[in-house]
Amino acid sequence: MTKKVKSIFFVISLLVMTAIFFAGCSNANVNESKSALEKIKESGKIVLGTSPDYPPYEFEKEIDGKNTIVGFDIEIAKEIAKDLGVELEIKSMEFAGLLGSLKTNKIDFVMAGMTPDPERAKEVDFSTIYYNAEHGLVINKKDIDKYKEVSDLKGKIIGVQQGAIQEDIAKEQIESPQIKALGKVSDLMLELKTGKVDAVVVEQPVASSYVKNNDDLYLTNILFKDEEGGSAVAVNKGNEDLVEAINKTIERLIEENKIDEYVILANEMMSNE
Ligand code: ARG
Repeated sequence: MTKKVKSIFFVISLLVMTAIFFAGCSNANVNESKSALEKIKESGKIVLGTSPDYPPYEFEKEIDGKNTIVGFDIEIAKEIAKDLGVELEIKSMEFAGLLGSLKTNKIDFVMAGMTPDPERAKEVDFSTIYYNAEHGLVINKKDIDKYKEVSDLKGKIIGVQQGAIQEDIAKEQIESPQIKALGKVSDLMLELKTGKVDAVVVEQPVASSYVKNNDDLYLTNILFKDEEGGSAVAVNKGNEDLVEAINKTIERLIEENKIDEYVILANEMMSNE
């Protein structure tokens, strides 16, 4: 072979290899470029992660002999799935594990009365806020005269949920609290009843719901402010189309006054346990 022919061969094989390489790349891109929303629609289901210890947002109730997760977050999640034309699957877990499960794609979205605080917003994307609430304080009924204002809580043992923003709220708004963080709000209420914690900080509607179902507990008038507060849906970063679809459903539900309706319904479901 002459030198010239050799170099022509070399150039041709180089071109072929480059073509194969790029073909491979673009194939991979086709798969990767499928958005979460497209994948959800293809699979025919969307998986919700929630922590059902937070009535009326989400809680467990026996319906027809079956343990079922209900609450106003769940009603909203059902509407999101309906608008997407897919089935809703619900995975229950502790609140502190929700964002990890989202990031490892075990779930597609989180609804758990989750506050879209700036720290979390670095990790995940949030929908618009669909519900607003302040934070309330639950104590034992026998302590009514002991805890009348925030200053009475100085140095006390304050129960908060692990991974929840109430820990920061308690640290910022109560003087030198002893924080006790547990995975489940229901366990916090047990600790309160057995005197292992002095008071529990949770979203006010949740506080009110636990108190309604526990004669020994009392909801104080003490409220903790939270400027960036409210609940939003969390999805993995970079899923603009999914956030947009979820926002559309939220907008529709707000317009139709459905969210207030779901809150009332959830409260009713709680009281006729
Ligand atoms: N709003 C608080 C937060 O985002 C508490 C939410 C707790 N939710 C639950 N389902 N237990 O940190």
